[in-house]
Amino acid sequence: MDYKRILVTAALPYANGPVHIGHLAGCFLPSDIYVRYQRAQKRDVKFVCGSDEHGVPITIRAMKEGITPQQVVDKYHAIIKESFEQMGISFDIYSRTSNKTHHETAQSFFKKLYDDGVFEEKETEQYYDEEAKVFLADRYITGTCPVCGNENAYGDQCEKCGTSLSPEQLINPRSALSNAVPVKRVTKHWYFPLNKYEQWLNEWIVAGKKDEWKANVYGQCKSWIDSGLHPRAMTRDSNWGVPVPVEGAEGKVMYVWFDAPIGYISATKELTPMWSDYWQKEDTKLVHFIGKDNIVFHCIIFPAMLKAHGGYVLPDNVPANEFLNIEGDKVSTSRNWAVWVHEYIKDFPEQQDVLRYVLCANAPEAKDNDFTWKDFQDRTNNELVSVFGNFVNRAFVLMHKLCNGKVPKLHTDVMDEADNTLIAEIQKAKTAIETAIENYKFRDALYEVIDLARKGNKYMQDKEPWIVAKSLAETPDNQKLIDNCLHVCLQLTANLAILANPFLPFTAKKMCGMMKVVDRMLEWENVGKMNLLNVGYPLKAPELLFRKIEDDEIKAQVEKLHANLVKNTNEQKMQQNATNEATTLPEQKTEITIDDFAKIDLRAGTILHAEKVEKADKLLKLEIDLGYEKRTVLSGIAMHFTPEEIIGKRVTVVANLAPRKMRGIESKGMILMAQNEEGKLIFVSPLDAAMNGSEVK
Ligand code: MF3
Ligand code: ZN
Repeated sequence: MDYKRILVTAALPYANGPVHIGHLAGCFLPSDIYVRYQRAQKRDVKFVCGSDEHGVPITIRAMKEGITPQQVVDKYHAIIKESFEQMGISFDIYSRTSNKTHHETAQSFFKKLYDDGVFEEKETEQYYDEEAKVFLADRYITGTCPVCGNENAYGDQCEKCGTSLSPEQLINPRSALSNAVPVKRVTKHWYFPLNKYEQWLNEWIVAGKKDEWKANVYGQCKSWIDSGLHPRAMTRDSNWGVPVPVEGAEGKVMYVWFDAPIGYISATKELTPMWSDYWQKEDTKLVHFIGKDNIVFHCIIFPAMLKAHGGYVLPDNVPANEFLNIEGDKVSTSRNWAVWVHEYIKDFPEQQDVLRYVLCANAPEAKDNDFTWKDFQDRTNNELVSVFGNFVNRAFVLMHKLCNGKVPKLHTDVMDEADNTLIAEIQKAKTAIETAIENYKFRDALYEVIDLARKGNKYMQDKEPWIVAKSLAETPDNQKLIDNCLHVCLQLTANLAILANPFLPFTAKKMCGMMKVVDRMLEWENVGKMNLLNVGYPLKAPELLFRKIEDDEIKAQVEKLHANLVKNTNEQKMQQNATNEATTLPEQKTEITIDDFAKIDLRAGTILHAEKVEKADKLLKLEIDLGYEKRTVLSGIAMHFTPEEIIGKRVTVVANLAPRKMRGIESKGMILMAQNEEGKLIFVSPLDAAMNGSEVK
């Protein structure tokens, strides 16, 4: 099929944490390389992404940090977006799923399926937390893993042994919110009948994509389809997500994996009024770049949704990568075993291409792979510095020394086989790189780029223009040989800039600067041309393209990785100890009756405003929204918090405490606080589901 336009998506990262280099290697870097290459080919290509801002992990994060889910996603959306920009990931748009366009797009998609009678309505029993008064998503239930005995397994998976679980399988299930024992309750949800699409998926994928899709992707799809597809709930009981736009669905939102991929459509809508060309015209090539944990959603569930809706193109390919481990261990964000992109940029300023290079050269394209700092150093020093950078640098230095700083002429009368062979190698590399990129083999493609530079080095070494220069007094004609060598090397340098550009865009730009050519030279059709630099044109002095990575830098990174990991586990241990002590050695106040307790009116609230109180070091004056009224409360927490950092925090208020005047201000109520293991004060925050003013009992 001849495609008129290409739409490239990269999996929307969850806005519940920053991105690490595994994310880059898995999908953002390959997609960026692919897109930069297509742009250089002057094809009509759009590259969309954004933050995935719904789902359980975000609400959990909000609870842990004592802020609202919106505050969580605002914070991480900004960090993630900046990391991508700094790494040169060149999205045409980086959107977010909490915005209006997305909510509307997802709702009309849902509504269409609903109106067409696609969904099945089902009432089921689901775990409910009677203390927190919410239904519990599988992730919110913890308990002992029946397979390995891990006491902190989740209701959907045990992270220790990797087994997929359902909450029913957990021994001793508890709510992650309140630690209560969850109970079953009836709730209604809308199911997408995946089973009805089994036959179609068999034809489209199992029969149709065997040779086109990567083996890891095809294999996962086939085994999913072979093991039988079942209806899947597309709604959840929660207040964070896209509200379900049908009657009788109050308090329900879309399952995050229903709305998130629609985010690709919403982002395209925001990007261009021509969005429907990219989604609804058959001659669009849709490519989803993802990590392997996203395969079923992009190959099976989302395509089935698109099919059910009708009128949309389906992905032509879904080039999923495997995982990138760090120093021999699986990435774990909870153990903080990860190399964070925003930290890399701080530690290695101006070294984006080096990371891009290493992550692509070592990309987990076919199997899980390992990132080590030693390998990062070796590849940088031995490949980028010694091969690519060295070639370009020598060509420039020698041109300044032996050719007056200008591009020398090519004397065809003395051209030899070595010249012709190297020129032919450029063409060969071009074809090889094209084929590799079109087939999503970015490692192979990048290898060809470096290999071409290696051939350039060899050519220069064999020609030895610096030795030839010594005999110029006797044989002035030898200047022709020098000219030819440097002419070829400089044209090769220009060609290398074009070939490297999709992978190393910062470097390609730098090279254009040195060669004093405009960025337009980087267009792909220029590869192979031997007149990219005009004869007689004066070039700039060389800049070093890459610098060596020193041993101590690598050592520092490895130490940092381990130091962060240790700190984390220690914290966990301390927490463990704290809870153990708390259960064995409680220092209780005198017993009270239920009636005593019932006298206390506790309410959920939100801090609207906070300010220091004059001449009172310890006091903050808070304005608290209790739903039915706003309250002024003075609280002795000024030594622990700045006013700015607590605005928006959820608090539990003793609402019927007798008013008290301090420093001329009347305080009506008190907020509840606890301490963490380091003695730091923390708010006793009601769950986000609890509205302001609701009673805490
Ligand atoms: N947020 C998901 C993840 O990080 C990916 C979502 S991709 C989309 O695993 F298709 F849903 F957008
Ligand atoms: Zn387990």
